[in-house]
Amino acid sequence: MNWVLASDHAGVQLKKALLAFLEEQGHFAHDLGVSDNGESADYPEPADNAVEAMLKGGADMGILVCGTGLGVSMRANRYKGIRATLITNDFSAKAAKEHSNANILCFGERITSEQDALRYLKIFLENTFEGGRHQRRLDKLDAPLVTEENEGAKK
Ligand code: RB5
Repeated sequence: MNWVLASDHAGVQLKKALLAFLEEQGHFAHDLGVSDNGESADYPEPADNAVEAMLKGGADMGILVCGTGLGVSMRANRYKGIRATLITNDFSAKAAKEHSNANILCFGERITSEQDALRYLKIFLENTFEGGRHQRRLDKLDAPLVTEENEGAKK
């Protein structure tokens, strides 16, 4: 599988460990930055870079890392077709595949150890999307939103 990985300055080390793990498992993994040369980034930027690579068709899956995983997941989920899930324990790692069929995994280097994050990624990879009612729910993620401009879109 083809993966893209990106992080802000707070997620560089964990991103590198996740990339090395994917390569060990036989995946193709490309680091879109930032590097560990002290470069700083606002978390929407790495999220945009990874999503852009995926939507252009160059990657099947993405990993985004920031300090908490929160900022990158908020940004990535603004794109239609993106299902970015914050992974914080074994259960969410399993559900991210079985229920959410996530195409971007988000991690927080300041809240998750390298050892735990690698285990979560392994769990995600070992599981299978269950489809059925979960696919129905995922389809609704891209349904029109109720806003002041299109009030009643749900009716
Ligand atoms: C950067 O200091 C930090 O705010 C960022 O990495 C992330 O945790 C935001 O969600």
